[in-house]
Amino acid sequence: MAHLTKLTDTYTLSNGVEIPIVGFGTWQTPDGDVAKTSVEAALAAGYRHIDTAAAYGNEASVGAGIKASGVAREDLFLTTKLWNADHGYDAAKQALDLSLRKLGVDYVDLYLIHWPNPAKFRDHWEQVNADTWRALEEAYKAGKARAIGVSNFRPHHLDALLRTATITPMVNQIFLNPSDLQPEVVAYNQAHGILSEAYSPLGTGKIFDVPALQKMAARYDKTVAQLVLRWSLQHDFLPLPKSVHEDRIRENAALFDFELSHHDMAQIDALHGVAGLATDPDATNW
Ligand SMILES: NC(=O)c1ccc[n+]([C@@H]2O[C@H](COP(=O)([O-])OP(=O)(O)OC[C@H]3O[C@@H](n4cnc5c(N)ncnc54)[C@H](OP(=O)(O)O)[C@@H]3O)[C@@H](O)[C@H]2O)c1
Repeated sequence: MAHLTKLTDTYTLSNGVEIPIVGFGTWQTPDGDVAKTSVEAALAAGYRHIDTAAAYGNEASVGAGIKASGVAREDLFLTTKLWNADHGYDAAKQALDLSLRKLGVDYVDLYLIHWPNPAKFRDHWEQVNADTWRALEEAYKAGKARAIGVSNFRPHHLDALLRTATITPMVNQIFLNPSDLQPEVVAYNQAHGILSEAYSPLGTGKIFDVPALQKMAARYDKTVAQLVLRWSLQHDFLPLPKSVHEDRIRENAALFDFELSHHDMAQIDALHGVAGLATDPDATNW
């Protein structure tokens, strides 16, 4: 288990870059004031890792929240992602430049391919993913991203990518919560030195309705959110909880004064399917 004492503890990526162990999610956070003030609230609460994406449509407001917070750029870990329409070598380069402009920064700490090209719907999915990855490798070497990675990639996508990659992705961000542990993907990541980031760590809100988690959380005198985020950390995942409410933002950061027993970790591991499953990246035609 990683060193778990505070929000700004870090995992070390395969290239030596330190990444804070909890990130603040921003999917479905409306652009404008809500995105700006929730990012400010997260930074005030001590988060130093923000996760956004071109597809979330809120990069400019996330950037404004960062500026307004007064947190120095070098003290912050900022991730954004390349959207599906921007795959390919030239398009990927342009997409990153546009994200940097919108965020108002010279570099991101992590740039991810948001989804692989779906194998069922693309004749040349391996080639297009490889071309896109080459653009990310160049951006990394040019200092526009301190680390690069993928999201929603399964082992066959990674196997294909690694045939031509000169840099192994440092991160794979996947749907990861008590309802879906994606063991094959996590094992593959681990074997290749790829950090597993846990998106939808609260099942996009569905996790709160699970009676077994409600009971267990009460036993620890914690909330369900705190219970499952702690579970994620004790698995060495990197959870990315999202909220637009200041009290929840703080609640989701208070994870360091309790520890789940092995027995309770196993009980949570057994909850497969209670709050949704990962989307099959090959079955979605985008
Ligand atoms: N790479 C990808 O394809 C991908 C896909 C999905 C998500 N992500 C990333 O992962 C992040 C998190 O995933 P997610 O947005 O699906 O959802 P999540 O963090 O699993 O859950 C967020 C939901 O739970 C609510 N919530 C948060 N904290 C709570 C608390 N303490 N008590 C009660 N309700 C609470 C939020 O409502 P309020 O906001 O109203 O508080 C929201 O409805 C995203 O924001 C994004 O950064 C990445």
